[in-house]
Amino acid sequence: MNKITPTADGSNTLFNETIGEHYHSKHGAVQESKHVFIEAGLKHVTLRQSSINILEVGFGTGLNFLFTLDHCINQQLQLNYTGIEAFPLSLEELRSTGYQQYVPDLVWKGLEDNYALALNEPISITADQQFYIAHTTLANFTSPPLFDLIYFDAFSVQHQPEMWSDEIIAHVGTFLKPGGVFITYAITGKLKRALKAVGFTIEKLPGAPGKREMLRATKAL
Ligand SMILES: C[S@@+](CC[C@H](N)C(=O)[O-])C[C@H]1O[C@@H](n2cnc3c(N)ncnc32)[C@H](O)[C@@H]1O
Repeated sequence: MNKITPTADGSNTLFNETIGEHYHSKHGAVQESKHVFIEAGLKHVTLRQSSINILEVGFGTGLNFLFTLDHCINQQLQLNYTGIEAFPLSLEELRSTGYQQYVPDLVWKGLEDNYALALNEPISITADQQFYIAHTTLANFTSPPLFDLIYFDAFSVQHQPEMWSDEIIAHVGTFLKPGGVFITYAITGKLKRALKAVGFTIEKLPGAPGKREMLRATKAL
């Protein structure tokens, strides 16, 4: 079991002993998820479309998925969500986070009741929202360019540098449609150069509490 740890906004995260890092920012797990992925990612892309295909790198506890599903149900947006996860947590670990308190029952149950199934095949939660968890590594994941938005939520470059190599960033970029958006909580010169090299334009945005800046990148049309 990964150890449960409170973060500064009162929400919990898990500590991964093998990697030596938390699953979320210690400055606030819920705050980070909403600031980076929902506000700067999901809301930005759905300004111009009512149906969205999202790929998350590192599904982990499902926190980003919960807030995404909640928003899409509220705003009547069609959602196809794919999470890549090499080391799926147990259902018991998901429950231990206490994240059920931040979303309506329908949303929490959507994850809790379907988690094991979604690790095998795409599951419909409602007529308009479905999700799937690809139980594989990012390097082994393949897909045509069918995603509108990528949530890049890997462990940090200090703890898992191979997730941020130029090759893996180029590989991830191929899964986006032209005009698709890549969003992540971090920003480095190396990451910016890797994305620019494969045709992305870069925006530097204010980071979640505890981080000065974060990155949003848009694939060329
Ligand atoms: C920062 S955590 C993700 C947090 C998650 N988004 C959440 O809300 O709980 C990074 C995740 O990447 C997963 N991971 C590590 N190596 C991976 C790899 N090679 N391919 C895919 N996922 C990987 C970890 O198991 C972990 O769940």
